[in-house]
Amino acid sequence: MNPHLEPWNILADAFPAGDFASDQLEFLIGYAILAPSSHNSQPWLFRINAMDLELFADRRRALPVVDPQQRELAISCGAALFNLRIAAEYFGHEYRLELLPDPQQPDLLARFHLGLSSETRSEDIILFHALTQRRTNRKAFMPDPLPDQLLAALTDAALQEGAWLRIIDDEPNRQAVANLVAEADRVQWADRHFREELARWVRTRPDEARDGLLVQDMGVKDWLAFLGPAWIRTFDRGGGQAAKDQDIALHSPVLAVLGTTADDTNAWLSAGQALQSLLLRARADGVWASFLNQPIEVESLRPQLATTVGVEGFPQILLRLGYGADTAPSPRRTVHEVILKHAGRHA
Ligand SMILES: Cc1cc2nc3c(=O)[nH]c(=O)nc-3n(C[C@H](O)[C@H](O)[C@H](O)COP(=O)(O)O)c2cc1C
Repeated sequence: MNPHLEPWNILADAFPAGDFASDQLEFLIGYAILAPSSHNSQPWLFRINAMDLELFADRRRALPVVDPQQRELAISCGAALFNLRIAAEYFGHEYRLELLPDPQQPDLLARFHLGLSSETRSEDIILFHALTQRRTNRKAFMPDPLPDQLLAALTDAALQEGAWLRIIDDEPNRQAVANLVAEADRVQWADRHFREELARWVRTRPDEARDGLLVQDMGVKDWLAFLGPAWIRTFDRGGGQAAKDQDIALHSPVLAVLGTTADDTNAWLSAGQALQSLLLRARADGVWASFLNQPIEVESLRPQLATTVGVEGFPQILLRLGYGADTAPSPRRTVHEVILKHAGRHA
């Protein structure tokens, strides 16, 4: 087995009992790192203090081409923050959260104070159990529709985190969004810098990968997978990718745009927490999700996506949702590797 999948086997029974808040905070980080992140870049660092936990953006893991504003980086960190919250609640702790607590430290995204014990709500238990079951599933989904009740719960989950969710399940809008996805694929793949950046995050040896995207998961033919990063760097396969993504968008029972009214770090952290909240809610109901963010990443297409689906504000994430076959988890770095040991130094 790939040793870098081990973080997914975290056992709730091992939660340190007693009042040792720092041990408990370290244990909670084990859940935070299971969050999704763009290109599986895992752009987060944590510092454990006597009374709280701090979450930092690890900007060395930024993706300057696909994510020049580090918007997706903050969304990924927001998702990790939501995992922390759910895990703390599951283990019966109250918490207090300060977002962007220090204007002098823009990399300090959040401070998380673990409080006294509280009662665990049944919804927290449900979401907690989904933490280790969630994956990005890029396979084709079955055509079965999603229950209205679940769609309402997902919309509500986004609202509770200060974001909004626009469900697209009618044919004309689905078609229009699929066309934008295809157009964005062509734009991105035509850009040599996009291909070079992607190639740097593609891994061909699953047993050695601690982060990044496994080439096998990218849905390419075996002989292309063998070439791996070299192939990605060299060939503009925008046309092929566009056709594939357009088809997958058209055949997903639900597409959904997650967005916010503002477009700053605070909004991105909200979007990240909303994203993880609804991904966990969906997984708890047996529903998979994957991302089709291309038309949000291509700056000129982002307002077009908003107009197409009739929303005001800023699309942050484009998802597809549905039922389907299981998929393997993706690798993670260990908790040890993401903990800052002392101010300014880390493992
Ligand atoms: C902000 C953000 C943007 C993402 N964009 C895409 C995307 O456009 N296409 C895609 O296939 N996956 C995308 N992903 C999914 C990541 O590639 C995935 O989370 C990562 O590889 C880890 O895998 P996991 O989600 O199965 O744990 C995105 C994830 C996040 C958090």
